[in-house]
Amino acid sequence: MEQSVPWDVECNLDARGSLPRSGPTLFLRTTPRNMSTDPTSTILLRTVERGDLPRLYELQLDARSNQMAGTKAWDADAFQKIWDGILADPTVTARAIIASGTLVGTISCFKRAGVDEVGYWIDRAWWGRGVASAALALLIREVTARPLHATARADNAGSIRVLERCGFRQVSSSIGEETPRYTAGALVHFVLD
Ligand SMILES: CC(C)(COP(=O)(O)OP(=O)(O)OC[C@H]1O[C@@H](n2cnc3c(N)ncnc32)[C@H](O)[C@@H]1OP(=O)(O)O)[C@@H](O)C(=O)NCCC(=O)NCCS
Repeated sequence: MEQSVPWDVECNLDARGSLPRSGPTLFLRTTPRNMSTDPTSTILLRTVERGDLPRLYELQLDARSNQMAGTKAWDADAFQKIWDGILADPTVTARAIIASGTLVGTISCFKRAGVDEVGYWIDRAWWGRGVASAALALLIREVTARPLHATARADNAGSIRVLERCGFRQVSSSIGEETPRYTAGALVHFVLD
């Protein structure tokens, strides 16, 4: 099985040769192989802007996505509170995923239970085109903290494949209990060293 991300990653570096850390600058892009029917297709990450929130709210309502992730969609008030917190928190790296110019999802790194955890969510219309794999490859280039942790539902084959392609390895499993945000179910835990 292919274990590494098979794409070249181009970085738009600042004048000092570093990755820009903030601002709306587009700073990382890659072209996944399975979007190669359009050679100009790229996946980019940029900072999340307030203007993205209505679209991100719609994306997180998708029932099939919530089933895969083992989550319950937020209502509008809860969503707004969550994103107000994320956008004000300098310890969170929250990125919009732009595919061929369109906002197609989010990917983030945040502290959970004292460790650095990654999570991502892609518009169902864009599934299966390498977007999540490309976005994670970009994020782990930007976020250099290690280890990085990730948790997926044990039956979320797509997410597990994304993690494995980007070099994460499964370290444990557990049974997740129902919470206001999550449904109960079997979980698998991954680490990138
Ligand atoms: C999981 C998710 C992020 C995958 O996004 P994506 O852009 O479709 O992922 P990619 O195209 O980069 O790669 C998915 C890989 O998993 C495979 N895959 C996708 N769905 C699959 C499934 N149901 N069963 C088996 N493999 C699957 C794909 O074939 C691909 O592997 P390949 O490149 O070897 O063919 C997306 O479905 C999603 O956002 N789901 C809802 C939210 C969620 O589950 N987030 C993750 C929480 S841990």
